[in-house]
Amino acid sequence: MFSEKDFISNLSVIPFETKSFQWSSPSNIALVKYWGKKENIVNFLGEPAKQIPANPSVSFTLNHCKTITKFDVKKTTDGNFTFELLFEGKPKPEFNQKVNQFFLRIEEYCSYINYFHFVIDTQNTFPHSSGIASSASGMAAMAMNIMSLEKSLNPEMTNEFFYQKASFLARLGSGSACRSIKGNVVVWGKHDEISTSSDLFGVEFPSQLHENFHNYQDTILLVDKGEKQVSSTIGHDLMHNHPFAEKRFEQAHTNLSALKKVLENGNLEEFIKIVESEALTLHAMMMTSLPYFILMKPNTLEIINKIWKFRNETKIPVCFTLDAGANVHVLYPENVSETVLQFIQQELVGYCQNGNYICDAIGNGSQLM
Ligand code: DP6
Repeated sequence: MFSEKDFISNLSVIPFETKSFQWSSPSNIALVKYWGKKENIVNFLGEPAKQIPANPSVSFTLNHCKTITKFDVKKTTDGNFTFELLFEGKPKPEFNQKVNQFFLRIEEYCSYINYFHFVIDTQNTFPHSSGIASSASGMAAMAMNIMSLEKSLNPEMTNEFFYQKASFLARLGSGSACRSIKGNVVVWGKHDEISTSSDLFGVEFPSQLHENFHNYQDTILLVDKGEKQVSSTIGHDLMHNHPFAEKRFEQAHTNLSALKKVLENGNLEEFIKIVESEALTLHAMMMTSLPYFILMKPNTLEIINKIWKFRNETKIPVCFTLDAGANVHVLYPENVSETVLQFIQQELVGYCQNGNYICDAIGNGSQLM
């Protein structure tokens, strides 16, 4: 396992003038939620460590909701990285600050970026204004391209290092992005029962995933496609001095222990309890912070109640989870997908903005294109 120090690459011999890379990185949906960052942690240089989660989390990697990002890099002698950011081929100045912050955060570990000018062209496979967080897939795709560049400077690098550093860099861009690198179920944050787990990067779920979860379905109901009311960065900050924070962080550890067993033994009844409780707890934390806020919409609640009624009546193991927003992720096994999709189309689509929803399923992670 690598430590922060191992991720410092001081490569200074640039054996080419230009290179191009392209990666696709998926979004992910957390089952045990990351909400809150550790304060007062220092890294090996004695500097404040960034993006260290207050509790461990685990997510399903998605398959269709992706960001595709192309890097055209050109060697320069400026001594500082420069970049142009395009979204679907056109300049997108609104994204410059996030990308600049990402480069500044990774500079310590990838000083070679200062020998290059980057033309970054990015696009999403999901509608831009869908309210689906693109920061996880977006930052993961950035990190993959950076690692391709590093690999072309240091071809000897192992695959293990490649993916672990990619996750480490993605985390510096956006915490949940470190879970969009590799694997269909990814754990991020130190947990006692998962020896490979780390606060610094995501790791693949170490046990064999029960077949009940193979090709698990996630239909995302787009209830509200508006801009996020509260950015996650501000949201995470509200866990500092939150009256329930410590209990919540403990609970995430317990829930991850329980979910680990469930992912191994396929107990869907237990899966549903943990996943729905995590979603509601995330929103409960937002409702009880100062300032407090409510990100669910009336239609979010309508959908939740309909899912509960349908599950009670049919005994079909369908459940929901939520992100930091109003959209609902409907999760269910592949073998009931026909019936559940019918239910979604007949009873839930009416609660979606313009009837929009996205059918996704568990996927494998980032891919070189
Ligand atoms: C509610 O990863 O978007 O989706 O690290 O500040 O970029 P930053 O936050 P971000 O937070 C995601 C929070 C969440 C839960 C989760 O994905 O675990």
